[in-house]
Amino acid sequence: MTHRAEPPTGDEPPLLAAARGVEPSRVPVWFMRQAGRSLPEYRRVREGISMLDSCARPDLVTEITLQPVRRYDVDAAIFYSDIMVPLKAIGVDLDIVPGTGPVIASPIRSDADLAQLRDPQPGELDHVAEAVRLLVAELGDVPLIGFCGAPFTLASYLVEGGPSKDYSRTKAMMVGAPELWRELMERLARISAAFLTTQVRAGARLVQVFDSWAGALAPADYRASVQPHTATVLAAVGELGVPRIHFGVGTGELLGDLVAAGADVLGVDWRVPLDEAWRRVGGGVAVQGNLDPALLGAPWPVLAERVREVLRAGGRVPGHIFNLGHGVPPAADPDVLARVVELVHAEGLALREA
Ligand code: CP3
Repeated sequence: MTHRAEPPTGDEPPLLAAARGVEPSRVPVWFMRQAGRSLPEYRRVREGISMLDSCARPDLVTEITLQPVRRYDVDAAIFYSDIMVPLKAIGVDLDIVPGTGPVIASPIRSDADLAQLRDPQPGELDHVAEAVRLLVAELGDVPLIGFCGAPFTLASYLVEGGPSKDYSRTKAMMVGAPELWRELMERLARISAAFLTTQVRAGARLVQVFDSWAGALAPADYRASVQPHTATVLAAVGELGVPRIHFGVGTGELLGDLVAAGADVLGVDWRVPLDEAWRRVGGGVAVQGNLDPALLGAPWPVLAERVREVLRAGGRVPGHIFNLGHGVPPAADPDVLARVVELVHAEGLALREA
């Protein structure tokens, strides 16, 4: 989808207007990881049920996705699931360990290991489609954001066997076994695209592709070995006509490459001011971000000033979606997030002109 300077339509949800670079009726705001451990009602629902089991139950997915929408006046719901869910659905033996993250029973390090990865078969993502349909029926005008992991971020877990600081096995495969790497990335691109298009066909109105760990790569390696595969995923949903957010952490040197992969909205972490990020990519996209999540613990007057700074920088860009620069930390105070939403809505448009 390309950016057109269209007049505001008035009744279009602010999130979708901003994603098209159109002046919304208010600055839209949602939070990555708005559902999750920061909410007591989430911890209650999850008691005695593993993360992945909860993701396989449309009733629980619906309840957990709606929790932050009930609590905050956010402009979007994000589908409660995980980037590893489509891998689990095709039978990869993995778990999501609380406080650690995804852990893989048999990491992928050889041609033979690739047998774990095949295209999702009819029916294997039915629980995803069912949950999205239930949600869309409940959400009314609030748009649902669908999401998936980009092939590199998924590969980092599959190759390392779990979370990593330096991604050394992953990068060694990328440069040392380019055929194996290409096959791995192509398979992951098809799996993620299937997960994402399932959500869109069932009613998600915008998508976010998380390449959370792409910032670990040098730009030349990103362009040669990663970007074409993320582009496959973004193109698959682009064909369905929904706006696409492309996000990664620590991607200041990669911002132009993230946009070139095929994005309508550039997701930015807190390291680069939004107007500077937009200049770096030469415009042509909306931006999303980028309050440092660590600042949620600062005294309110200090935090409020930082929120206003983000709004001013975002206001210089046609199309700003307010968010954090990464996910809500589990220790975040939900009442603080509620105040941030109020502030964005109350002052956002006025600060654009300031
Ligand atoms: O509210 C939302 O944002 C929607 C739900 C969502 C989850 N995971 C739920 C979740 C989304 C969009 C994700 C994506 C995801 N999962 C990413 C990309 C986003 C990012 O943070 O960069 C990544 C890298 C993962 C892999 C993963 N899953 C990690 C690193 C963790 C955290 C581990 C921990 O316990 O600290 C998870 C688990 C996870 N995913 C939780 C939630 C609510 C916490 C699980 C729990 O409650 O025990």
